[in-house]
Amino acid sequence: MFPVAGLGTRFLPATKAIPKELLPIVDRPLIQYAVDEAREAGIEQMIFVTGRGKTAIVEHFDTAFELETTMRERGKSLDILEPTRFPPGDIITVRQQVPLGLGHAIWCARAIVGDEPFAILLPDELMVGEPGCMKQMVAAYEEVGGNLISVLEVPREEVSSYGVIDPGEERGTLTEVRGLVEKPPINEAPSNKIVSGRYILQPEVMRTLEDQEKGAGGEIQLTDAMARMIGGQPFHAVTFAGRRFDCGSKTGFVEATLALALEREDMGEEVRAIAKRLLG
Ligand code: UTP
Repeated sequence: MFPVAGLGTRFLPATKAIPKELLPIVDRPLIQYAVDEAREAGIEQMIFVTGRGKTAIVEHFDTAFELETTMRERGKSLDILEPTRFPPGDIITVRQQVPLGLGHAIWCARAIVGDEPFAILLPDELMVGEPGCMKQMVAAYEEVGGNLISVLEVPREEVSSYGVIDPGEERGTLTEVRGLVEKPPINEAPSNKIVSGRYILQPEVMRTLEDQEKGAGGEIQLTDAMARMIGGQPFHAVTFAGRRFDCGSKTGFVEATLALALEREDMGEEVRAIAKRLLG
């Protein structure tokens, strides 16, 4: 499930008419990175929780008849569009009419999720790793089941911007989760391990979200609903072995663009020379 109904206010005016999730890092939109990561993990059905002004996201994963016909007529390869193709029925959309928070966006897809565990990927958190973050989580899920979230360690000063875990026993990359708090003050944060945009949850979370009160920022928070599930079901965190770029922030977005451009075979050298020149 990809919640993509947020307003993206930090990127205005760019996101007035274009969804934040379609902003490209080099030449792939953010949502494409997240969908590729899910596919790599073996996930076949993609649920988009969309809102007003977000239809272009769904079109990105549709057949572009005119474009494809014209490209074919001109003898151009369509391989570049391959990651945007899906078998009929595997792209599902549901609408969140009012952006009341991430927890509320997830709850909007309750009828589609039904009684099965499901994965959530926040497309503005770009996770780069081999294997990808969701694939690492699916491997961990096969071992421990229950609920899983990915976490990262950040400097203490930064914890107040994120969901933070209260860690229990640790085993390799797995940490038992004893508690979760959304955006705690630095001196009240139970650790420096932050929730980082990837989840595998049991369907019971939908019932917990049902009577969820508004939390931090006046929004219905997923973190609060997950916190209420701890104890009833196994709950673990996977420390992601890879890099994460916070593309919901402007500096994180620029960092991701530079990092991925520098690594590209077709342009890395040129970009390195440009960066050197700009830095004097
Ligand atoms: P963010 O907290 O980054 O919010 O949401 P946002 O609205 O996208 O951006 P800003 O803060 O105004 O700049 C994290 C993810 O959750 C989705 C967003 O689309 C994004 O993918 N979301 C958030 C929803 O789908 N619905 C909501 O009500 C809130």
